[in-house]
Amino acid sequence: MPQRSYSSAVEEIKSRCNIVDIISPVVPLKRSGSNWAGCCPFHKEKTPSFMVSESRQTFHCFGCGAGGDAITFTMRYYNLEFPEAVEKLAAQYGIQIDTEFARQGKRREPYYDVNTKAARFFFKELIKPGCPGYAYISGRGISDETIKTFGLGFADGEWGSMTEALLRQGVDRELMKELGLCKVSARDGKRLYDKYRDRVMFPIINTQGKIIGFGGRIIKDEEPKYLNSDESVIFRKKDNLYGLNLSRTEIQKEGYAVLVEGYMDVISLYQSGVRNVAASLGTALTDEQAKLLARYTKKVVLCYDADAAGIKAALRGIDVLRNAGVEVRVLHVDDGKDPDEYVKKHGRDAFLDLIERKAMPDVDYRFSLIARKYDVSDTQGSVRFFKAAVDVLRTLPPVEADIYIKKLSTQYGVSEGAIRSELERNPKGAGRSPAYAQAAAPPQAPAQADQSAEQPSSSGDGRRDASRSSDSELYLEMTVIRLILLRAEYYAKSREHPELFISDEGLGIKNAFESQYVEGSEFDPAKIREALDEGELAYLDRIMKRVLPPEDDARAFADCVSRAGEKARAARIEEIKDILSMAQGRLSKEDMNALTMELSELSGAKGR
Ligand code: GTP
Ligand code: MN
Repeated sequence: MPQRSYSSAVEEIKSRCNIVDIISPVVPLKRSGSNWAGCCPFHKEKTPSFMVSESRQTFHCFGCGAGGDAITFTMRYYNLEFPEAVEKLAAQYGIQIDTEFARQGKRREPYYDVNTKAARFFFKELIKPGCPGYAYISGRGISDETIKTFGLGFADGEWGSMTEALLRQGVDRELMKELGLCKVSARDGKRLYDKYRDRVMFPIINTQGKIIGFGGRIIKDEEPKYLNSDESVIFRKKDNLYGLNLSRTEIQKEGYAVLVEGYMDVISLYQSGVRNVAASLGTALTDEQAKLLARYTKKVVLCYDADAAGIKAALRGIDVLRNAGVEVRVLHVDDGKDPDEYVKKHGRDAFLDLIERKAMPDVDYRFSLIARKYDVSDTQGSVRFFKAAVDVLRTLPPVEADIYIKKLSTQYGVSEGAIRSELERNPKGAGRSPAYAQAAAPPQAPAQADQSAEQPSSSGDGRRDASRSSDSELYLEMTVIRLILLRAEYYAKSREHPELFISDEGLGIKNAFESQYVEGSEFDPAKIREALDEGELAYLDRIMKRVLPPEDDARAFADCVSRAGEKARAARIEEIKDILSMAQGRLSKEDMNALTMELSELSGAKGR
C-alpha cells in the first residue's frame, strides 16, 4: 500500500469530531464536573476511572494509564492501525480524505504562513498615521486594544500593495492565488492584483489559532459590503465560526454562547465585555458550525437582526442547533438594527439584562411568530394560529410537547383537550389545513406521481409550496395550467374560480397569465416563462413533464372546476367545524349563528 498522508483529514477530524460522541456509544459516560467519566474499556474495573475531557478532546484512564485523543481511542478500541482509524472516523463524519492533496505531500502550514504574512501586512497598514481604515473603524467605536485583539487590518485602494509586499517577502504566488488573496489579471493572464481594496480586514481564525481566511468590509459606499476569502485547502466557511478562537473558553465559563450574524457584532460585544460570542459568517448556520459550537456549550442565544432575513436565519438556526443537541433561545434586540448597535448604545449590562428578560426559548419564539402572523383576537385567526402552533408541537419530543400544550392552553385560553385532539386528529402528513388534504383522490393519477404526499407542504395558511407538494395534491391546479396553455380561453373562465390555484407557484403562473392575456389569442409560452421566477419555472416544467394534455379538454376543465369547488367547500366545512369546536365560549352569538348557518348551507349543498 502506498504511503499516504492523512494530515488534512486528521486536522479535520480533530476540529470536527467530538471525542464524547465517539466514545459514549461504546463506553457509557456520566458527567463528572466539567469532564465525563466511565468504566475503562481497556482494563477491568468496577468503579469508573476512565475520564474524557470534552474541552481538551482527550481521554485518560487513571487506572491503567491509557490515554490520547479521538484517533488513539479508535485505534485501541477497534484494534486498528492509524490510517484505518482515520478512515473510519472520516467516513463516520463525512470527511473527504483528499488523496490528491495528500499525494502531493502538501501541508497546511505554508498556507497558514501566507495568511499570517498578509494579516501582518494589513495590520501595519491600519496603524499607519492617516489610514482611512483606522478612521473608519475607530469611528465605529472600536478601540486600539480591540484592533489588536482581533488583529484587524486595512487593504488600501491600490491594485497591488499587498501582492507586491508579499512577493517581496518571498511568498509563493501560487499559494497566494490559491488562497484568493490575489487574482490574476484578465488582460495578460499573468499579472496578480489584490483582491481586497478599500477594506477593513478581519482575519478569520480557527480554534487552533490559525488564520484560515479573511473578511473585508468596504469603507466606501460600494458593493459588496463584505468580501470573504475564497474557499481553499484551509478555509471552508461552513466549518467555522468567527470569533470562536477568542471566545471558546469564555463560552465554557459562562455556560452558553451568544451567536450573532456579523463580524462587527462579535467585535462590539466582545469589546463591551460580552465575550462568549461568535458569528456564523453570514446568515445560514450550518450543521458543521452547530457541531463545532456544541463542543463548547449546549446552550445558545441566537441574536440575529430583527429584519426578515434575520428571522428566517433564526428559524433555520433553531433547527440546526436543536439537531446538534443544543438548547436555543432567540433574542432580537429592541433598539438598533443589530447587537452591535445595541451594545454600543446601551452597554454590556443592558445587553445581558435583555438576554435575561427577552430571550425566548425557541418554541415560544416560533409561537410568537405565528401569533404575530394571525390575528388571535379574531376567531378565524385564532383557529389558524392553533393549527400552525400544533404543527410546531408535532416537531417536539413528547415530553416537551406536553409542556407546551399546557402553556398554550393557559396563555390562550383553549382547552388542553382541544389542542391534543387537534394534534391527534391531523397526524403528521395529513396536511396542515384540512382543505386539500382530505379531498378525494384525483380521477386518474398523473404519470409518475411522486411519493412525497406525506411531507408537510403548506405554510399553515392553507397555501401550498408546490415544490414540497405531491402531484396528487396539486393535480387540479396542474391540469388547469396545462389546459390554459392549450387554450387561453380557459384562463378567462378560470378567473371565476380562484379556488383552482392553490400553490404559491401556481398563483405566480396565474399572475403571468393575467399580465399576458389578450382575448382571442393564445399565450406565448416564451413570454410566460420570462415572467416567472425560478421556483415557478421549475413548477411549470414539472407540469409539462407530468400532465398529458387530456383528450376532451372541455370536459377536463369542467371536471377540474367542479372538483376544486367541492374541495374548497369541504375545506370550509372543516374550518368552520374547527372554529366551532376550538373557540367555544370565545364567539359572539352573531358569529356563532352566522357560522352555523354557513355550515348548514354548505352541508346542504353536498352532492348538488
Ligand atoms: P456593518 O454594516 O458593518 O455593521 O455590518 P453588519 O455586520 O451589520 O452586516 P449585515 O447585518 O448586513 O450582515 C451580517 C453579516 O453577513 C456580515 O457580518 C457578513 O458576514 C455577512 N455579509 C453582509 N453583507 C455581505 C456581503 O455583501 N457579502 C458577503 N459575502 N457577506 C456579507
Ligand atoms: Mn451592523
